[in-house]
Amino acid sequence: MDSRPKPDGELADADAMGSDIARKFAGGDSDALLDNGLTKEVQWDGYSLMIRGQRVFLHSGEFHPFRLPVPDLWPDILQKFSAAGLNAVSIYVHWGLSNPAPGVLDFGAFRALAPFFDAARRAGIWVVVRPGPYINAETTAGGIAHWVTSEVEGNLRTNDSDWFESWQDYVRAIVDEVRPWQITKGGPVIAVQVDNEYEENERTRAYMQALEDAFRDGLVVPLTYNDPNERVSFVNGTGSADIYGLDAYPQRFDCSNPSTWFPVDASYHEYHSRVNPHQPFYSPEFQAGAFDAWGPTAPGYEKCRELTGPEFMSVFYKSLWASNAKMVNYYMVYGGTSWGGIPFPGVYTSYDYGSAISEARMLNEKFTELKLQGLFLRSSPDFAKTDVVGNSSAASGAVQVSDERALVIKLRNPDTGAGFWIARQANSTATDIVTFNLTVETADGTFDIPQTVEGITLEGREAKTIVTDYAYGAAGFLRWSTAPILFAGRIGTRDVLLAYGSPRTAHELATPTRVHDVPASVRAPFVALEDTPSSLVLFADAPVAETVWAPTLPGAADDSLAAMWGLGTNASVLLAGPHLVRNASLSGDGATLALYGDLRNAVPLLILAAPEGVRGVTWNGAPVRMQPSALASGALVGSLEVAREAGEVHVPTLSGWRYADSLPERARAFDDAGWVVADKRTSNVWLPMAYGDGRTLFGCDYGFCENSVLWRGHFYSEGEETSVRLLINGGEAFAASVFLNGVFLGTAYGNSTNNQNIVDEVDREYVFPNGALVIGGDNVITIVQDNMGLDESEDPVDTIKSARGVRGFQLNPSGNFSEWRVQGKLGGYSDFPDRTRGVLNEGGLFGERSGWHLPGFDTSAAPWVARDLGDGLPGNTAGVGFFITTFDLAVPPGLDVMLSFNFDDNTNAESPYRALLFVNGWMMGKRVANLGPQTKFPVHEGILDYHGVNTVAVALWAMEPVAVRPTLELRVDAVLDGGVGPIRTNNPSFAQLR
Ligand code: GAL
Repeated sequence: MDSRPKPDGELADADAMGSDIARKFAGGDSDALLDNGLTKEVQWDGYSLMIRGQRVFLHSGEFHPFRLPVPDLWPDILQKFSAAGLNAVSIYVHWGLSNPAPGVLDFGAFRALAPFFDAARRAGIWVVVRPGPYINAETTAGGIAHWVTSEVEGNLRTNDSDWFESWQDYVRAIVDEVRPWQITKGGPVIAVQVDNEYEENERTRAYMQALEDAFRDGLVVPLTYNDPNERVSFVNGTGSADIYGLDAYPQRFDCSNPSTWFPVDASYHEYHSRVNPHQPFYSPEFQAGAFDAWGPTAPGYEKCRELTGPEFMSVFYKSLWASNAKMVNYYMVYGGTSWGGIPFPGVYTSYDYGSAISEARMLNEKFTELKLQGLFLRSSPDFAKTDVVGNSSAASGAVQVSDERALVIKLRNPDTGAGFWIARQANSTATDIVTFNLTVETADGTFDIPQTVEGITLEGREAKTIVTDYAYGAAGFLRWSTAPILFAGRIGTRDVLLAYGSPRTAHELATPTRVHDVPASVRAPFVALEDTPSSLVLFADAPVAETVWAPTLPGAADDSLAAMWGLGTNASVLLAGPHLVRNASLSGDGATLALYGDLRNAVPLLILAAPEGVRGVTWNGAPVRMQPSALASGALVGSLEVAREAGEVHVPTLSGWRYADSLPERARAFDDAGWVVADKRTSNVWLPMAYGDGRTLFGCDYGFCENSVLWRGHFYSEGEETSVRLLINGGEAFAASVFLNGVFLGTAYGNSTNNQNIVDEVDREYVFPNGALVIGGDNVITIVQDNMGLDESEDPVDTIKSARGVRGFQLNPSGNFSEWRVQGKLGGYSDFPDRTRGVLNEGGLFGERSGWHLPGFDTSAAPWVARDLGDGLPGNTAGVGFFITTFDLAVPPGLDVMLSFNFDDNTNAESPYRALLFVNGWMMGKRVANLGPQTKFPVHEGILDYHGVNTVAVALWAMEPVAVRPTLELRVDAVLDGGVGPIRTNNPSFAQLR
């Protein structure tokens, strides 16, 4: 009996089987170069993509431009991607935002795609466009336009004809937007995904095929598909795309216990070999964070960042590589903000996602790990084509290790013989320190490595890529390295390699002439193991390596893809020190290296390797005094200082608030003649009315599909009525307050407690207090409700057609509503005035309809009064009021400053209020104080005007007649000397919009 511990899952057997299949195809079918018959600029085989004939490991991150509604900041994110060594971005496009009403297409302002594509091209980043129509993405209706959810009777995402009609305009517009940016036109777009994560069956096949036909009417790049699980959906036949992919979220979404891990799923390689061996193994979404739910026990994004932190990235990403994935997209690398009505009910405003670039655009420890991995992949073209040879499990027996607690998977480039041995703990969740020896076959024979030091060490949850027969630059070659490689390549006339490793363990690098040992001990920051006119081999401790950057040097100016690594350029420099290096270029004579980037502190700038002609360096345009460094020949050292202004960024205390009531609709006398009469009797909503009199009261059916919606139900009373029963549906964590003739009756509370105890509708009775009823006259029930967004898809039921509204109404013991009227945002989805901020920004609160949230609204005259936000609503009533103030910012240029609005300093927990935070007219935050968890709302420059007057408006909804005392503070979270350059604002004012 084999007593060795079994590795996770089915790996042992499955992988043995997989490598058989891989062998069968190796050199055979999986080698065949395929294309879609429309272009040869993007081809593929069983290994990887070939872009313009160049083999590419697609190393991509997910970023939703609509979650960063400041186009001038898109280059910031894309430059950070490329600084991490990524070569691609995957974007969702939001149908609902771009096609807000039938026949209305809008790719203006933050919905624009062209500036995004251009920024990607300049940053050297390929783009995979994922326009849906369905995108999921934790956004309302999964991205499906709201009007579609109410106007389409047929089943969504099927071949029903009204659904088919509904997406035609949008998809045609997407084709028009994307076509000029395809690689075939010199643009960065290399693929387009069809819909999102779907189950293949009779109904869905025709739909997917129809979509593909529509994309094909103009687009030639490959179409791709993402399967949520190993369901073998849309691999072949009708509705299948050119390249199939498999999404995976192995750590799932509960960030509450961030150190409790699920094991590595070791089935991917076998699955790929079985299912689509002629295509690259593509992971269109591999988990890179998690979303977080409403509720007091929701853990918050720092916990998600921990759950999916550097250890997870090391073990799970490299295990994905070990399954031979060559097209990888990490979901999300920048999460951003679900501002306005973007979220579906399961998430709050922040969509930080615990990602490598935080919501405020800050780099964190996950970014550093991503960079270490990204620069290695960029440096290792041989890794873009490998076979999985086998592993060290008993079942495979293809690899020999001295300690079976280590699992080593061997990948080998069949053309060059380069070996990539990916090591992790056999039990992938184990935290032990394991030191082992490995037997490697190389071109020069078989070796037991390491030879000069104690062993190869896995320090707990860590994976390592050990290389053999590793060629780089013009003639650089490693027989093996037990130290991870950070950089390898040609710089000027030298082959340069930088390896790194834990300072606690020993490492070994073998060149053709020498075995270099790097003992575990305190070392100089960088050790030059080899330093000759043709070769520089460096080693650094991990903490030092983390400060390294390898910006590329763009190629020929007339090449639109000059920044694309491997195509436009193969040139880069190697340096260390700064917080971020965004880009680099050489002056025409090659004497000056111009670097651009960000600093948090003063740091030494160390140029480790640059083309020989470089004599001087500039940093953000200013010369830096450099001198030769003793570290290595050709190395230069200088120092970078942070601008004095960086220490002088201050923001004002928010004060001088003006206040007005924003719920006049509760009064019996309020004139609702202009409101829409809610008298429909049929609806496409998936849930029926529960009770009532045949009228359907769903906001979407009347054009009011998002954010706050108000209802007024009129009834004549002869004194019988004692209460009203209402079933109000708002989606998880919603609320609705109910009034009779201006008298508060109660609030219905939805719920989510970190996704437990979900309440998305409330059925209850509201008792009329004595004296509230008007006998012998008209009475009015006023409901103000918060629509938390429409649900995502739960095929085969169209839950997307969510029943937001009043799903049951009844007067007790008897009585009849003569009329119901409804009002949501001004103009509904057809005629809303704010085309810049878009259809999801505003709701139907009186103050919103009146444009109070917009910059330039004049609060000087009555009914506006001076009142501090912290004083809450006058008289401690339940209701809604607007608080508005303005403040000036004068941030010195040349800085990237992260600001946030902070409610309550975490002290006001469970206070029964909700608040909408409008910044210069943009709804940048929804605070739900009784549920939480979010109190901090980052807001970017571009929404904020850093050089002028800013308006902040808070719509405060007190849900009980008690004292509610919110506090709000503007804070400086970080100041970076650098940034992406001037940021424009686009904040249409009250005068322009009302
Ligand atoms: C995937 C989906 C994404 C997103 C993700 C979870 O299944 O395709 O859109 O919802 O889950 O964040």
